Amino acid sequence: MRPASRQWLRPSVRPLRGEQTSVDTSTSPPVLVTGTTGRHGSTGAHVAARLRSEGRQVRVLARRHSERTKQLQAMGAEVVTGDLHRRETITHALDGVRLAYFTYPIDAGVVSAAANYAAAVQESGAEVRTVVLSMGPAHPAHLSDRGKDQWLAEEILRWAGLDVLVLRVAAAFHENLHVLHGPSVRERRVIRNCFGDARVSWINGKDAGELAVSALLHPERFDGPVCYPPGADEASHADIAAMITDATGRPVRFEDIDRTGWRQDLLDLAATDPTGVINADMADHISAVGWSIRDRGPTRPADREEVRRLIGHEPVSLGEFIARSRDAFLDGGTAAETDGAGGTQDVQDSTATMQASRTGSQNTSAGVGAAGR
Ligand SMILES: NC(=O)c1ccc[n+]([C@@H]2O[C@H](COP(=O)([O-])OP(=O)(O)OC[C@H]3O[C@@H](n4cnc5c(N)ncnc54)[C@H](OP(=O)(O)O)[C@@H]3O)[C@@H](O)[C@H]2O)c1
Repeated sequence: MRPASRQWLRPSVRPLRGEQTSVDTSTSPPVLVTGTTGRHGSTGAHVAARLRSEGRQVRVLARRHSERTKQLQAMGAEVVTGDLHRRETITHALDGVRLAYFTYPIDAGVVSAAANYAAAVQESGAEVRTVVLSMGPAHPAHLSDRGKDQWLAEEILRWAGLDVLVLRVAAAFHENLHVLHGPSVRERRVIRNCFGDARVSWINGKDAGELAVSALLHPERFDGPVCYPPGADEASHADIAAMITDATGRPVRFEDIDRTGWRQDLLDLAATDPTGVINADMADHISAVGWSIRDRGPTRPADREEVRRLIGHEPVSLGEFIARSRDAFLDGGTAAETDGAGGTQDVQDSTATMQASRTGSQNTSAGVGAAGR
């Protein structure tokens, strides 16, 4: 069962008092968006769709053409093939760009990606303001090597003199529950990890995308160049097991294991994961983050009011996410069948919105926004 899809296309980012709104979107330069074919938080797909629904020109950088890029093209985005590890492909994609969204998956290679991106911006001579999606663990002394790498990648962007606004989102994505725990909940009715009874801060991947859209269009809302947007809710994994139990009507329990045990679980999952979302670096990273939060608590407590201020509307709650994607926790379900992962629904919604506005229908982005609120 698919959820009511329109609810996921969030309303326009409403300008707050005193904010600049007068941009001629029909002639403005394209916004470069990376990471639009993701299968974890899928923030790039959401950013591209939302910018199109705002009437912005969008150019996406994708490694290959696919059904996903066809959908992006159908909503009016320009698709350029390229790779963040190949500088010359990025230089090409930057032609005429003044605003960009940089994201990289939880995987090895972010330092090289940032270095190539910085070199391409310098080579192109363009004055590009770049919004970087990062994470709370981006720190030179974090237990996670990916956290250390992310910090170094951001240093490189700064050393290169780029105009960056770094969003170290200090919360876990709701979608982690599908990606990391969906299979064990479906098959064995258990969530196993090393967070212990720590209360984790949570945010929806789409709201992380909304933070990026706000940072692109309304940078004055952020106290950058490096900031730590909080999550919208806090819950332990035992709380979440109880919420999934309520949503599905099937008992789900939480099992506390150590860091090594969870890392091994994730490696086993990676070996059998048909989607390829989970990788060995992610297993190292997430188990280190779990162990760190268990010990020291989240980077920043959740602050729903602050998320609302930053994105200009109500964030998706954890309870809403679990209820809407309950099928992903039931036998035969997968995250991709729900709107909880993949970003495809965003793109489809945005395509429908763009087509409707072209044909003069009432179903404009404002209309969708009102329905989604
Ligand atoms: N998960 C969490 O709990 C969490 C929390 C806070 C912050 N974050 C941050 O969120 C970010 C990840 O964002 P996300 O969830 O939107 O990512 P995602 O869904 O995993 O998508 C990653 C995208 O990057 C693309 N990509 C991978 N390698 C590339 C390359 N060499 N060149 C160009 N594109 C490449 C992928 O394309 P392909 O389709 O070609 O693979 C895909 O489109 C990370 O920085 C992470 O720190 C995550």
